[in-house]
Amino acid sequence: MYTLEDLNKDKLPKHVAIIMDGNGRWAKERGKLRVFGHENGAEAVRRTVDSCVKLEIPFLTLYAFSTENWNRPKMEVDTLMKLLVTALKKELQNLQEKNIRLKAIGKIDSLPKKVYKELTEVISKTEKNTGMTVTLALSYGSREEIKTAVQEIAVKVKNNIISPENIDEDVINTHLYAHFLPDVDLLIRTSGECRISNFLLWQIAYAELYFIDVFWPDFNEQHLVEAILSYQNRERRFGKTSEQLN
Ligand code: IPE
Ligand code: IPE
Ligand code: MG
Repeated sequence: MYTLEDLNKDKLPKHVAIIMDGNGRWAKERGKLRVFGHENGAEAVRRTVDSCVKLEIPFLTLYAFSTENWNRPKMEVDTLMKLLVTALKKELQNLQEKNIRLKAIGKIDSLPKKVYKELTEVISKTEKNTGMTVTLALSYGSREEIKTAVQEIAVKVKNNIISPENIDEDVINTHLYAHFLPDVDLLIRTSGECRISNFLLWQIAYAELYFIDVFWPDFNEQHLVEAILSYQNRERRFGKTSEQLN
């Protein structure tokens, strides 16, 4: 059993991103509807946020709903949206007490009006908080994010605001939904699937990947600690040789 105390506080990831997967299978295992899994998934979100607060991890980004998830049965999408509104209402106080800033990435204006309203309200109410930044990826798809950035840059080129030679990585980054986030250090995916599913493709260029065979509703502090311990035991070379780093 490891605890938060086992972690090296000087080597914590600055930005942890999580693909919260496996709610449906978790519910199915219990003979329940998928919705039951999503409800319990919301509890895991709260636990994880609390653990990251204790660790003082500055950025936590959670994949909550992808552009592709719109293709799920209407009933599931509707319930997920309802759950989101409930969770946002319920969590506002917790966010304020813990000094957490809520942000969102994705095509959020495609969310139902109620969700959009609640989301933007919580974002603006927590805007001035100075602790951790929790970012929800909602109606988020990395390819869509990049496509939108390319369109915005193309318009600027057309209007002579920027010249093609000056388009560098920083310019591209500035036009992404996630422009306010640093690169991902540690990407965790639950449920045993080993894929990225269109999440933060640009931002994970040098992230350490960690796949865990636990369904999201069961994910707890112990699992998070194990993921960070694994991260801390890796050598991030960024293209250099091991000797160059020492
Ligand atoms: C993750 O769990 C939550 C969302 C994608 C919204 P799933 O709903 O994908 O659960 P599984 O992967 O089908 O078990
Ligand atoms: C990824 O999970 C999206 C979220 C966790 C929100 P999915 O369950 O949608 O991913 P695939 O379809 O199995 O790749
Ligand atoms: Mg899934």
